[in-house]
Order: sequence, then structure tokens, then C-alpha cells
Amino acid sequence: MIDAHRVTLASEDDFDGWRDAARDLAEAGVPPDAIVWRVDGSEDDLFAKEARQPTGASFPVPRPFIDLAKSVVCHTDPERFALLYAMLWKLRSNRHAMEDRADPLVDRLENLAKEVRRDVHKMHAFVRFRVVEQPDGMTRFIAFFEPDHHIVRHAAGFFVRRFTNMRWSILTPELSIHWDGETLSEGPGTTRAEAPGGDPLEAMWTTYYASIFNPARLKVGAMLKEMPKKYWRNMPETSLVQPLIASARNRELEMIDRAAAKEGLREALEAERRIEPGGNLRKSWEALFKEARGCTRCDLYKRANQTVFGEGPLDASIMFVGEQPGDQEDVAGRPFVGPAGQVFDEALERAGIPRSEVYVTNAVKHFKFEQRGKKRIHSKPNAGEIEACRWWIDQERSLIRPPVTVALGATAARSILDKVVTISRVRGSPIALPDGGECWVTVHPSFLLRIPEPDRKREERAKFVDDLKRVRDRAAELAS
Ligand code: URA
Repeated sequence: MIDAHRVTLASEDDFDGWRDAARDLAEAGVPPDAIVWRVDGSEDDLFAKEARQPTGASFPVPRPFIDLAKSVVCHTDPERFALLYAMLWKLRSNRHAMEDRADPLVDRLENLAKEVRRDVHKMHAFVRFRVVEQPDGMTRFIAFFEPDHHIVRHAAGFFVRRFTNMRWSILTPELSIHWDGETLSEGPGTTRAEAPGGDPLEAMWTTYYASIFNPARLKVGAMLKEMPKKYWRNMPETSLVQPLIASARNRELEMIDRAAAKEGLREALEAERRIEPGGNLRKSWEALFKEARGCTRCDLYKRANQTVFGEGPLDASIMFVGEQPGDQEDVAGRPFVGPAGQVFDEALERAGIPRSEVYVTNAVKHFKFEQRGKKRIHSKPNAGEIEACRWWIDQERSLIRPPVTVALGATAARSILDKVVTISRVRGSPIALPDGGECWVTVHPSFLLRIPEPDRKREERAKFVDDLKRVRDRAAELAS
């Protein structure tokens, strides 16, 4: 009877097709081992077109599972659709099944989602556009990229927001996507050989890149370690990193500026200005900020007053990440303005870090609390809520690309590093991040607030200030 439940999906990343079929099959009581999932791409064979009458009752599916499924579907693992259905099947009888961390299925699905997220992150960080003059005289920015998973559609929104005013194409072996300033369209995949990349474009791009090179934004050690070699070929700057770092930046820029002017690269430089702070970056951030205000990715929005988004300069070299807004932040709509914020501000001041120069945000953007009488008592966000909110912090990080990120406490560390860490084990040394930045983990300011003994409190506050000083020095070192 297996053939009776053969599901053929339209594409490798066909989340909607999987969801519709899975919902009908689960409601009809079809067990996981009675279904064969395949991807065909030929529209005629789609399961969705077969007449199916779900016979059972519908059941609620938790939002974190939907978010997880959207990522997992993009993985190349051929079993992904079946694994997701097996999880959905469990959720049918136990809506908390996802919370069972000891369940190997939960673990496997989370690992698949994590690999997809890493791939998306790499695409955001490592796509490099080349400027191409089109026959109609218009400029188009073209990039070639080879993702590990089926993430191109999933990652496209980021590029639309980031480069709204440009006409661009991202070519990949599986498909190409094109933005004309208003509409996103798709085309067939491309091989590296067909993609623009060689001279003379390459030479022009290389000079162009050199003109915008900012060593503060590029951590070579981490970059070489984190960036898989296969991306290097698509990134002109890898051939420039050593010479540029070796020379004094100002002299270099002066020289390159002259070369750029001589070679007629003004247009490229202007395009970059549109992308940089004050231009598209600010607009992208504002769009993100607005979108976040309507966030319903988990249930926390239902009881909180508002989304508390990050704030600070978009070219900040340090990003601080807290856990979630507290009672006062929820009212004010700004991060770290309550009691923990006071401890944080005081420590920043003692460490010589002006708050106005750093970007401050939280891993979770809505206040979670228990009502006790008139008081709203902070309660810790769970794994699903951290996961649901990771989308926002990933977007903030992709836009700002801070060379140094400081995770304040375990929740922030979990969100940034995508794994559970013990603060005492990782405190004090940098952890390389896939985007070339580094993460420093320290305690949360509210931990300092809760210490009852005055001596220990003083000691721990001093240690916290020392951590901040180290981070300050590191950010300065990376910028020098
Ligand atoms: N605690 C946090 O983690 N963030 C805030 O914004 C306030 C308190």
C-alpha cells in the first residue's frame, strides 16, 4: 500500500508542499512508515493534486516546529521529509514532544536545522557581488555562490532587504535569483565557468574591493579558519588580504582611491556608499525593526507590551547581547534600561566603553514573565523561544557584522553560538564565529544583582568590568 501514499514534492525545498501533504496525511492517521517522500519537480505528479479526503480531526502544531521544519526542508539529507513527518506524528499525540531533548529524533532534526542555518549565515556573509555593465547600459551586481544545502530561496529575503535599490543576481548551481528593484525572479542554475568572474571584471572588482577594504571588519585568522576554501574563489578580497593588512591603511586607501578614480570606478564606489551606513544599511535595519514590531514567531508577543529591538550605531565594533527584556524594558521599548541595565551601564563606564558607541540587543525580543499579584516576575525563555527569536538576531548580526560580539549570560551564548556552553569554561577567550567575527562570553548583569554577599558582589563586578576591558581592547586591536 506504500504507493498509495507516495508524496512527490515540487522542489528540493518545497516546504509548502510538504506541509500540506503532511497535514492531510497526519489528520487521516497515516503512519510515517506508510509514506514515501520524493522530489521530482514535475508539476503533474504532485501529491497535492491527488484527491485526498482527510478523515481525522485537525490538531495544533507548535510554531517552533514549523520554524524548525522550514529550515530542515532546505537540508540535502534525503530523509529530511520523512524525519519531519515522524516528528509531526509524535506531536499529534503529544504537543510537547519537541521539548524532549533526549529524543534522538529531536536531536537529529535540530542538527539538520543548525547546518542549514550555518549555510544561510555563510551565504549572507560570503556572497560577493561583481559590478557588470549590461547591454542596456544599466549596472547589475552579480555574484556566484555554492551553498551546501537548498537554501537560496530561504536566504533571498536578506539580500532583497539589504540591497533593495540595486539590480542584482545571485547565481548558484541549483538556481539563480534576480532582483530588479521591485520583483524577485528565478532562473536556472549556473556553473562557475558561466558566471562572471574573470578579467577584466575581476580586476575591476579587486580594485573596487581594495578601495572599501576595512581591516577592522575583517579578522583574517577567523576568516581563513571559518571560511571553507570553496568560497575563496568567489571572494576577490582573499587575494588582497595579506598585502592590504601588511601596509598602512591610509596610504593604501589614498593610493587605491587614485587608482579607482583613474580607472573610472566611481560608479562602483557610489554603489558601495548606497550600501553602507546612512544608505541602504540604515533602511534595511529600519525595515527589520518595523517587521520585528509585529513578530508572532512564538507566543511571547501575546502577553508582552511590545517587541524590544536592538539599538546603537550600525557600524559598532562591539555588539552586546542580553537574554530578554525585563519589566522596565518592556514598558520603555528599549534594551537594558532597568536594574540590570544600570549595572551594565556602570560597568561599561568603568571599562571606558561609551554606551552610545556599542550596539545593544537581546537574544529574545519579548518579555516573558509570570504574573504574581501586581508584579510581573521574569521567567527564563525556553529553547523554542530562543530558537524562534534567533531569526531576528541573525538578521541584526548580518547587517551590522560586528567584529566583536559579547554574549551576556547563558541564553545569549546559546543563541549566538547555537549550542549550550558553560560560562565558566568559555569566559575570557574569543570564540570564532562563521561570519569572521568573534564571540566573548561573560556573565549577565542580573547575576551580579542577585549576589547577596557584599564582598563577593564587589569581586564579581570587578571581574565583569575586567571582561569588558578585555573586549574593549580586543575591538580596538581589530580596528588598528
Ligand atoms: N536583561 C536582559 O537580558 N536584557 C535587557 O534588556 C534587560 C534585562
